[in-house]
Amino acid sequence: MSKEKVILAYSGGLDTSIMIKWIQEKYEADVITLTVDVGQGIDPKAVEEKALALGAVKHYSVDAKKEFVTNYIFPAIKANALYEEKYPLSSALSRPLIAAKMVEIAGKEGAKIVAHGCSGKGNDQVRFDVTVKALSPHLKVIAPVRDWQLTRDKEIEFAKEKNLPISLSKSKPYSIDQNLWGRSIECGELENPETEPPEEAFEWTLPPEKCPDTPEYITIEFEHGVPRAINDEVMDPVLLITKLNEIGGMHGIGRIDHIEDRIVGIKSREVYECPAATILLEAHKDLEKMVLTCQEIAFKRYVDYQWAFLVYAGLWVDPLRSDLEAFIDKTQLRVNGKVKLKLYKGNLRVVGRFSKYSLYDLKLATYDVGTTFDQSLARGFIELWGLQSKTFHSLRRVMEEGEKHEPFV
Ligand code: ARG
Repeated sequence: MSKEKVILAYSGGLDTSIMIKWIQEKYEADVITLTVDVGQGIDPKAVEEKALALGAVKHYSVDAKKEFVTNYIFPAIKANALYEEKYPLSSALSRPLIAAKMVEIAGKEGAKIVAHGCSGKGNDQVRFDVTVKALSPHLKVIAPVRDWQLTRDKEIEFAKEKNLPISLSKSKPYSIDQNLWGRSIECGELENPETEPPEEAFEWTLPPEKCPDTPEYITIEFEHGVPRAINDEVMDPVLLITKLNEIGGMHGIGRIDHIEDRIVGIKSREVYECPAATILLEAHKDLEKMVLTCQEIAFKRYVDYQWAFLVYAGLWVDPLRSDLEAFIDKTQLRVNGKVKLKLYKGNLRVVGRFSKYSLYDLKLATYDVGTTFDQSLARGFIELWGLQSKTFHSLRRVMEEGEKHEPFV
């Protein structure tokens, strides 16, 4: 009888590296590793060699950068997606994509089990498990770090015992997860929410002290709510995001430090570097303010909030996401135009915007001569606008100041 096959989402890090052998032994199974490139800056060849050296019977390497940008990052931009008003969902967006690839490879290989390296304390396990189960309910998902409560020490001990070819030299103080949309830095000193993250935690962004002394201006062009050009140069989506990470990083843009509510109930201190995301979300939101009505903007805020929550909470596959996107996409038909931004020593500011769908009407807004706004209409409007507030306070006065001095509740 042929052995069971397990498809392991493999990053090349310690957890998933020791897991190859661990799964082989505990499940008496063959392990097939899969690495999905979402712009985390890996050398796919080196990752493959490592996986095979550690005992994987086969390795798949999938370059999903373009798909990640077009099908995951672009919808996030259209939804102005920030979880708890701070986190652009960099890790959260990548998980359903990786999970879909796991399911695809499992189908191709006829495997009944897929595995990932998440612990039981985070959001990523939820994102992987929910997506896999929704796309392929017969698949079993195993997560050795969660299921056996593996710790770093136990992993190192296991690696030594089995003589695994892993360098266990000096332990890295941080746990990193990165892709085109940002870099998450966790563990070590960062777990103390009272203290500033040490400079060594940052790799993509410069501190303001080291940024250039002259500001840089950039113009981003959007079409239907997604970016298409920087400084009038139309660019491939992956290159566009990569460039903005470089430009933003050099000017210290996109450092995020906040207290985040994980779905499993834990409050955690999270630190990120997301230069491209910070720039694009700021520019996109500004352009929407030019072209959408105040009613559309007010309603879209709720829709955007719900979209970001679903994605954070591992419910990418919930039909509500695409329901919300039907509304969002309709609004984005007019989100065409250009936004000019100024980047300077960690500071990002929109300083200009243009759109042919702009609802900004200079003739209405100007304080100079030649305005088309009829000020005589304002008096009557204000009478009606404040009518109920005025009525309320009249009643309050009658009750409080009348003979009985009734308290007004
Ligand atoms: N707190 C973020 C999130 O839940 C970042 C997670 C980073 N993941 C990781 N495996 N290090 O999306």
